[in-house]
Amino acid sequence: MHLGVCYYPEQWPQDQWAGDARRMVELGISRVRIAEFAWGRMEPEPGRYTWAWLDSAIDVLAQAGLKVILGTPTATPPKWLVDLHPEILPVAQNGTRLNFGSRRHYDISSPVYREYCAQIVTAMVRRYGTHPAVIAWQTDNELGCHDTVPSYTGAARERFQDWLAVRYGEVAGLNAAWGNVFWSMEYRSFNEVGLPNLTPTDANPSHWLDFRRFMSSEVASFHALQGALIREGSPGRDLLHNFMGFFTSFDHYELAQTGLDVAAWDSYPLPRTEVLWFDETDKHRWARSGHPDIPAFNHDLYRGVGRGRMWVMEQQVGPVNWAPHNPVPKAGMARLWTWEAFAHGAELVSYFRWRQAPFAQEQMHSGINAPDDRLTAGGYEIGRVAAELADFDRTAVGWTGPAQVAVLFDYPADWMVQIQRHGADFDYQKIVFEWYSCLRAMGLDVDILPVSADLTGYRLVLAPTLPVVPESLVAQIKAGDAHWLFGPRTGSKTPDFAIPATLPPGPLQSVLALRVAQSESLRPSLRPRVTLDGVEGQGLCWRDHVEAGEGVEVEARFDDGVPALVRSGRVRLATACFDPVLLRAVIARSVREAGIDVVSLPDGVRLRRLGRVCFAFNYGDEVWHAAVPDGTRFLLGGAELGAAEVAAWVETS
Ligand code: GAL
Repeated sequence: MHLGVCYYPEQWPQDQWAGDARRMVELGISRVRIAEFAWGRMEPEPGRYTWAWLDSAIDVLAQAGLKVILGTPTATPPKWLVDLHPEILPVAQNGTRLNFGSRRHYDISSPVYREYCAQIVTAMVRRYGTHPAVIAWQTDNELGCHDTVPSYTGAARERFQDWLAVRYGEVAGLNAAWGNVFWSMEYRSFNEVGLPNLTPTDANPSHWLDFRRFMSSEVASFHALQGALIREGSPGRDLLHNFMGFFTSFDHYELAQTGLDVAAWDSYPLPRTEVLWFDETDKHRWARSGHPDIPAFNHDLYRGVGRGRMWVMEQQVGPVNWAPHNPVPKAGMARLWTWEAFAHGAELVSYFRWRQAPFAQEQMHSGINAPDDRLTAGGYEIGRVAAELADFDRTAVGWTGPAQVAVLFDYPADWMVQIQRHGADFDYQKIVFEWYSCLRAMGLDVDILPVSADLTGYRLVLAPTLPVVPESLVAQIKAGDAHWLFGPRTGSKTPDFAIPATLPPGPLQSVLALRVAQSESLRPSLRPRVTLDGVEGQGLCWRDHVEAGEGVEVEARFDDGVPALVRSGRVRLATACFDPVLLRAVIARSVREAGIDVVSLPDGVRLRRLGRVCFAFNYGDEVWHAAVPDGTRFLLGGAELGAAEVAAWVETS
């Protein structure tokens, strides 16, 4: 449980560095991330490196006792590089080339850019790879941020054609897989295939899906290129990347497989609440705390991406600059978010940023210190966390092992839904998040995992929407004794993006004998009614009309007779999206049958166990009383939790 901070020595006079480092240590910070945007200062002209400033910065930090996480600066190619090679600039979906003057102005597919990246990373690794204060490396910064994963350049097109040739061998295979006989789209060779943008109407969805798979592999190979150089020249250091919350433009599990020690992510609860799908009531309600499931969802997801190792690389401390509205967090939230990250397994919580910069794009983004160097309100809270951490009894804290419930999160599922949304408001991440929220409101710990994960030992597995059901998953259903709950659109596509020959749910039919005869998306005014376990609710957004076959029991029907919930043995399927109350009843039924104990929590209260320690977090404004046995030993707070308060106690059973 370490505290860290993001620091930009190049943005401040050198005579300020030692004082900054001293004050970081006084505040309780032990890790500093630096350098991820400083290419221009490291290599001001092609091949001329100026390391003196970075040497001093690292030494000053090290002398103060801080450990350093070095970022590679490839998110910000300097002006000379862009002037020398304008072809490295990215091209947006509308065909426009983007300009120098901010960041992420590069085409990830450019072989020229990859060569320059390899050079700067090699030079940095040679210089600092074995520096005793350097404990970790971050590749680039937030890969894909500002919608920069898809790139529509000539270089991307060439590499896409090569990727297709490897995937299909013969162009006839591609034509068959994509169904190119439709609308005379057949190709005679791979080098005729373009990128799927700028077509008069929808490009072939199979074309889009392969392009998204290709782009995802481009991101993974870009990280891997840097990772290999870092591993070679900086042995024993952690290799990480700082991912974003709710970002699906590339498959994070795929990137992790190329080599990643820790999945770090950047946590900005307030702006996320502001920009995600929540309605006005929820946006208002959680405006100063963030929605109570936003940080936890990402902690649980990234713990899976990092196969157990997760850091928060950038934690919001105060108001930020990038949402439509940017309020000040409620007093106590910076502390709460920090403890919550630790409770979900974070090894490090690092804040963004040490000091607010009074210049350039992020001048309205706060940090631990105001531009005049006084601690901000959030900064004081970090001091409080540090003091609490110093006294915190860790003897009962340990890794809890897998949770009882797993939720499957599949990046290609989101791509497929986006490519063919079919219903304007069908949002993959929203649906997964709503299912996750139901579990968390029952006080449950959750692991978020890929479809390829070994699910042995879980009592209940939830797949809120899974267009492609792999045979390996069906094999796990048959082999294990877990209960399963699937949602709408399950098994609706083949891996080539076609409708399965036996109709949805495709391969799932061998454990759930039914056929989706037709599917419909529902406009907001179409809300078929259904009753389950005494709860009256409605179907929303999407409905699969299933015909139940042998051994399939219809547990609930809509008022027009269409099945709403069906099951066969341990496998259950919700045929539609449901309103929150009905969804909760459906999930509660599966949780009960799986033999899992639940508690009922108010909207704003969440629990999380770490070893024998149970943490509680109050995002709401009302006081909550934890029902714990007399004599319970509290490590933080007490049984009564006010707004933005945290408690931790040792569980006895
Ligand atoms: C992150 C980014 C940081 C900074 C921050 C502001 O997305 O990694 O460099 O821009 O947002 O909230």
